[in-house]
Amino acid sequence: LIIGVPKEIKNNENRVAITPAGVMALTSKGHKILIEKNAGVKSGFSDQSFVAAGADILSDKDDIWQESNLILKVKEPHPEEYKYFREDLSIFTYLHLASASELTEYLLKTGTTAIAYETIQLLDGSLPLLTPMSEVAGRMAVQIGAHFLEQRQGGRGLLLGGVPGVEAGRVVIVGGGIVGTNAGKMALGLRANVTILDNNPKRIRELEDLFAGQVEVIHSNPYTIEKAVVNADLLIGAVLIPGARAPKLVTEEMVKQMRSGSVIVDVAVDQGGCIETVDRVTTHDQPTYTKHGVLHYCVANMPGAVPYTSTLALTNATLPYILEIAQKGVHQAAAENPAIAKGINIDQGKIIHPVVAETLKIFS
Ligand SMILES: NC(=O)c1ccc[n+]([C@@H]2O[C@H](COP(=O)([O-])OP(=O)(O)OC[C@H]3O[C@@H](n4cnc5c(N)ncnc54)[C@H](O)[C@@H]3O)[C@@H](O)[C@H]2O)c1
Repeated sequence: LIIGVPKEIKNNENRVAITPAGVMALTSKGHKILIEKNAGVKSGFSDQSFVAAGADILSDKDDIWQESNLILKVKEPHPEEYKYFREDLSIFTYLHLASASELTEYLLKTGTTAIAYETIQLLDGSLPLLTPMSEVAGRMAVQIGAHFLEQRQGGRGLLLGGVPGVEAGRVVIVGGGIVGTNAGKMALGLRANVTILDNNPKRIRELEDLFAGQVEVIHSNPYTIEKAVVNADLLIGAVLIPGARAPKLVTEEMVKQMRSGSVIVDVAVDQGGCIETVDRVTTHDQPTYTKHGVLHYCVANMPGAVPYTSTLALTNATLPYILEIAQKGVHQAAAENPAIAKGINIDQGKIIHPVVAETLKIFS
């Protein structure tokens, strides 16, 4: 198979869809890998490191798209890339087609096959290609919160871990899934005082066991959320109801009661945010705004700030699927692996993912 890896062109997207280790794994199976010049530089991978692993570097984006049977990307294709779509091409990347009707239309009318990282799903319901980015964002949330609590950054001048004789800061995490658990681990590592709220009894028990009493794990409801939030120095939003907009669990009234200079990091902002005062998405260039004296950080693509770690974490997860697709072809791989079958959103001109079809109301 000829596999192409173009340079990402979305604003502030510095990840790349393959690493030299991935190139080595694929070329050792006889596949040819074409990588666009400088595609990995922002993630810390030079063209030479890709060449040493067996890739060919091409400077012309057109050649990558036209010569490859399978394109690997990180973000959805950009409108400039729609012209390359064609019947004998498959694309494997984050797609989020449910909110991208124009892209879907182009994929459908050109007969391109589109496999989405975010819908690859294991039998237990987990989403293995979303998990690594939630791990990155969860861990970053505490690091970012600690930074913005510094006075020069607008925060109340509090060191999250405290020091001997001085109390530690209070970190409150709403939602104890992948993001919440990773945030909890980081906050605990900093010696902060940590509370996690979740409403799933099974998850609550798992968290209690995992943190062995070092973190307070509380059943989430409006009463317990208010009690925890008004005392938080750092509040992290980490709730997800799959397929739905995040519920606004933290109200504006609660935020008003927080101490001035406290910090909110709403990681769930990509699903609309779970905090009422989160009324916009912020960017890495302008990451915070202040409301009721509280700093709000609401960046929807947090992993983009740490492309080295994010690229490695993402490609560690994608590579086994890339290898399987490359070895067997998309259809055989899907027939043998139900996780890959769930990943195929569009198969040669037909939407075959039921949720995507239902959301877009396209039944081909
Ligand atoms: N901003 C970013 O850059 C970025 C990066 C990665 C993930 N995310 C987002 O972070 C969010 C969390 O992702 P995740 O992977 O941790 O999801 P997850 O499914 O692993 O965890 C969500 C948790 O929320 C809990 N929950 C649901 N309703 C609740 C309620 N009423 N009260 C308390 N808890 C409740 C669930 O029980 C679950 O444990 C998602 O919206 C995801 O898209 C954002």
